[in-house]
Amino acid sequence: MAEQLRYDGQVVVVTGAGGGLGKVYALFFASRGASIVVNDLGGSFKGEGNSAKAADVVVDEIRAAGGKAVANYDSVEFGDRIIDTTIKAFGRIDILLNNAGILRDVSFKNITDQDWDLINKVHVKGAYKCARAAWPHFRKQKYGRVINTASAAGLFGNFGQTNYSSAKLAMVGFTETLAKEGIKYNILANVIAPIAASRMTETVMPPDMLAHLRPDWVVPLVATLVHKSNTTETGGIFEVGAGHMAKLRWERSSGLLLKPDDSYTPSAVIKNWNKVVDFSQPQYPSGPNDFLTLLEDSLKLGPSEQGEKIDFTGKVALIT
Ligand code: NAI
Repeated sequence: MAEQLRYDGQVVVVTGAGGGLGKVYALFFASRGASIVVNDLGGSFKGEGNSAKAADVVVDEIRAAGGKAVANYDSVEFGDRIIDTTIKAFGRIDILLNNAGILRDVSFKNITDQDWDLINKVHVKGAYKCARAAWPHFRKQKYGRVINTASAAGLFGNFGQTNYSSAKLAMVGFTETLAKEGIKYNILANVIAPIAASRMTETVMPPDMLAHLRPDWVVPLVATLVHKSNTTETGGIFEVGAGHMAKLRWERSSGLLLKPDDSYTPSAVIKNWNKVVDFSQPQYPSGPNDFLTLLEDSLKLGPSEQGEKIDFTGKVALIT
């Protein structure tokens, strides 16, 4: 039988651990030997109110099973306080699971500044504040594992979720930069787009579908990514739910390069549009310098085939 992944002696901070995915993470890592900080503000899924009960129930459950846990009731907007609780209780932090989240779904026509700001505060500022406070500890000990939580809504957009999808895609850029800055210090960061039955999804999905989406089924991927045996997988974007997991990446079409001279007109773009959107020979860029490299390589090829002369008329002429 394969050996169990263990986290003995490690300290795991789980934000939003009073319910849903956060709760199953907390119970899992506690059962595998880690000490857990169970953070939860205890409000509604729309971000209203607060209560200590959500975190306390999970801490009690972990302790009753013989595990080690402390509660923290701060909003993730004050992530530094969560990390303070962690250092005071356990003296270190090894793994940060930025999981806390709320929804304020509303069509863009009706969205208010409050709907926008609250979502960004919890998801973006919350993840930032927790990671920022954990960072010096990670760097000093040359060890850290971070999971941030995105969403399919962030990757693809979703009706009624401009605020949530913007915040969730922010988690991708945030993670990819943390991964680049962290690798030298053995700090690895990955981002997941989970799907699971929780109070967040129970009103928008049918019960038979929810039955296939147990939050526990997100745990094995997260457990693998944050385990000390993972020393290379960082900056990854993963979809995970219902026992399925897959990595996502950017795909670039083979593209169009026009000579930057007076033939470079909107008309020339229109004429060659099929090349702009041609994915038959894709590239998979992985860094901001990829584009410049691509450009250098292309420019070495000399005059582009597409650089045919089209007189600039000041208006876009459709060329048939
Ligand atoms: P949930 O509502 O069951 O759990 C979220 C937890 O975060 C709650 O216990 C809540 O009290 C806590 N929380 C909310 N605001 C907080 C704050 N300011 N400070 C501290 N704690 C706070 O939701 P679920 O489904 O477990 O979501 C977990 C994460 O996964 C969220 O980031 C969510 O956006 C994300 N997600 C979930 C999906 C799903 O299918 N369940 C889909 C895509 C993303």
